[in-house]
Amino acid sequence: MDRKPLIAANWKMNSAPAGAYSEDSPYRTHSAVDIYVFPTFLDLPAAIHAGLIVGAQCGHSEASGAHTGDVSMPMLAAAGCHSVLCGHSERRAGHGETNEIVAAQAIAALEAKLHPIVCVGETAQDRDHKKEKGIVEKQISCLPLESNIILAYEPVWAIGTGKTASPEQAEEMHAFIRSLLPADMRSSTRILYGGSVKPANAEELLRKPDIDGFLVGGASLDPAAFRSIVMTAIALKTSL
Ligand code: PGA
Repeated sequence: MDRKPLIAANWKMNSAPAGAYSEDSPYRTHSAVDIYVFPTFLDLPAAIHAGLIVGAQCGHSEASGAHTGDVSMPMLAAAGCHSVLCGHSERRAGHGETNEIVAAQAIAALEAKLHPIVCVGETAQDRDHKKEKGIVEKQISCLPLESNIILAYEPVWAIGTGKTASPEQAEEMHAFIRSLLPADMRSSTRILYGGSVKPANAEELLRKPDIDGFLVGGASLDPAAFRSIVMTAIALKTSL
């Protein structure tokens, strides 16, 4: 099955880049390539109003209640969000989000008709001990594997470090993740790569058969760099 590439911009705890909401913004979605942006909660309304396809960087698994500082999945959907990140490694490490918590968030997101991008990936230590596949398999095994779910393989050692997984390392893990999916989802589920994606490495990663796009952090804050990554994806897609 033909999987439409998806390039997602994770702005993390940063304001929207200059020109993000302009007519010729590189963050606008495209007929050949889906483009999603993940601003802070405060910037969600402006990004939605500007007509971008928007997601939140996290959401709580409960619909409402005594959860100071949190926002629920139905609230995000009602505000006009299309997607939500679940289990980003910075949330797992900095906010104690376990596999079970991430799975509960993904279930809540699907129930709210959001398209969750669930992040998985191993640490440098896991890889040094050759445990990367076991760790990722455990992260995936908890998840509700339904058709609206999108997965992102983000090796923790490659996030914000400038160290990208080689295209071969990334493809090996993407193919492994795909093999873990139920047979009826295997060819349709998009699996993104994330971790120091930049214009210089986008093409060789995207040429791999099981890499369906990117979750871009640092480079997504630079509109010119992000545009270049998007143009690479469009060029590859339209040359097929
Ligand atoms: P990075 O971040 O591109 O800055 O490595 C990716 C991510 O955290 O999603």
